Amino acid sequence: MKIGIIGAGNIGSALAGHFRKLQHTVLIANSRGPETLSQVERATGAVPVAISDAAKRVDLLVIAIPMKSVPLLPKDLLSELPPSSPIIDTGNYYPLRDGVIPEIERGVIESEWTSLVLGRRVVKAFNNIVADSLLHKGLPKGSKGRIALPVSGDDIKSKQMVTALLDRVGFDAVDAGPLSESWRYQPGTPAYCPDPTIEQLRKLLQRAKRDKAPGNRDQAAKIMAKLPPGFPPQELVRVARLSAGLDIFKPRNWIAALHLGLAALRA
Ligand SMILES: NC(=O)c1ccc[n+]([C@@H]2O[C@H](COP(=O)([O-])OP(=O)(O)OC[C@H]3O[C@@H](n4cnc5c(N)ncnc54)[C@H](OP(=O)(O)O)[C@@H]3O)[C@@H](O)[C@H]2O)c1
Repeated sequence: MKIGIIGAGNIGSALAGHFRKLQHTVLIANSRGPETLSQVERATGAVPVAISDAAKRVDLLVIAIPMKSVPLLPKDLLSELPPSSPIIDTGNYYPLRDGVIPEIERGVIESEWTSLVLGRRVVKAFNNIVADSLLHKGLPKGSKGRIALPVSGDDIKSKQMVTALLDRVGFDAVDAGPLSESWRYQPGTPAYCPDPTIEQLRKLLQRAKRDKAPGNRDQAAKIMAKLPPGFPPQELVRVARLSAGLDIFKPRNWIAALHLGLAALRA
């Protein structure tokens, strides 16, 4: 496939590397121009392009940018994106980072908002795994403990394509239903970033409480903002697992929670 990725940060470059390993052609863009992406090119093998070229006649487009940047994308960005090419939205709404987006505050589901802004359907995927796990923790199909990720969207064919891609990248997929159900793995829900197996993920999606998620998200974001730059991402996954009620008898996870608390206190 020819895959375009908009956003060359943690998630965009992790996906670029995976897709290149699968022999896909990958075009990658940021807001500052292809000349700023030589490091990403060297690390992943993706081809840096101007943002206006990232979505031209590609088979799949990935949007991996902060949500506040979605309305800033060029208005004609999708004019040459074939109607059959899915768009994956990896985005998450953090008011601390993105500022207040009134529609989302009023209850519009995050990826439905992105879809409205773009004027195209999107498939929500890869938003609830930390970049470090996405980069390093994929496993072959059938492996014990393989991480599962939810996929939601309103177009069955697009979801099938994304599900197959996820599998090749190293993750099981759970069909989380239409995009309107994707709140079940937005920030602040139990399914957000605990690296669950497929059985665990199915239960976590069912346990999500929509009214509780924004409060949980904001509390977590305040703590995250206090962490020192190199705080180990896998410690965050351990704490996410504890918060989701997974591995509560593993001392290592409680130690991670202690590290997190101490790091936040020291800040
Ligand atoms: N980090 C994670 O572990 C993680 C996990 C799952 C999902 N997510 C979500 O995925 C999205 C991306 O996260 P990230 O961590 O990859 O972010 P990041 O590391 O901050 O990278 C963001 C990328 O988006 C680009 N960008 C920003 N505004 C743009 C615009 N208007 N046009 C084109 N490119 C633009 C940036 O390029 P410039 O520097 O040129 O602006 C940068 O390459 C966010 O919504 C995040 O919440 C993150």
